[in-house]
Amino acid sequence: MIDSNIPAHVAIIMDGNGRWAKERGKKRSEGHLEGSKTLKKISQHILSKGVKQLSVFAFSTENFKRDKEEVDYLMNLIIKYFKKEADTFNKNNIKVVISGRKDNLRDDVIEAINYIQNYTKQNTGGILNICLNYGGSEEIIDASKKIAKLYKEDKIDLNTLNKESFYKYLYNNLKPIDLMIRTSGELRVSNFMLYQMAYSEFYFTDKYFPDFDEGEFDKAIDEYLKRTRRFGGV
Ligand code: IPE
Ligand code: IPE
Ligand code: MG
Repeated sequence: MIDSNIPAHVAIIMDGNGRWAKERGKKRSEGHLEGSKTLKKISQHILSKGVKQLSVFAFSTENFKRDKEEVDYLMNLIIKYFKKEADTFNKNNIKVVISGRKDNLRDDVIEAINYIQNYTKQNTGGILNICLNYGGSEEIIDASKKIAKLYKEDKIDLNTLNKESFYKYLYNNLKPIDLMIRTSGELRVSNFMLYQMAYSEFYFTDKYFPDFDEGEFDKAIDEYLKRTRRFGGV
């Protein structure tokens, strides 16, 4: 039975892979690999609960500040993940979309992005939005540029622009985020989906992302279902 109050759009800042590895005397890369396995498990679980859209933060525009070795490892992991999981996404009827800037990304990463989006585009069972080379401020700037271009070409009536219609110009036309989860104990947003989280409920957990399993997600949902959302009303 799916509860009608189940959030339509859940977003997760998948943080703490490095600390998970460090605590076990492993390399940071092993934490990222474990995190990718966790994503596979929980994304299926979350979308099977009636959540329609799941956004996950995989790599921020700011993450390019890390060592080349770590950045390369993450990019290779993402390519492998898309190739390896493509059939599972189709089997589970999950459509994969990617949000983020394409500049700065290697050609083989862009190829993998195009491949997975195209391979899963007919699926209707839920959307997995993977944020890659993504920044929330950048997304709003890029949307503004799209609108400015359309205006210049006389293709948009600015009177039609409002809070709802602005979503059409973001990287993917998703819903507002109902529940935002951040793992690893950090209490910040780190430039994640700023526009979409205007009225999100926040859930912070000390668990590192590799340990954020189905049971941990269920705790987050239980907590969410107890909240009263007021959207400025009384
Ligand atoms: C999150 O884990 C994954 C990415 C940012 C790519 P981190 O790599 O940030 O792990 P910590 O925060 O250093 O533990
Ligand atoms: C946010 O985590 C980005 C991702 C989870 C991909 P970071 O680890 O990069 O964030 P900060 O630097 O701690 O704010
Ligand atoms: Mg981190």
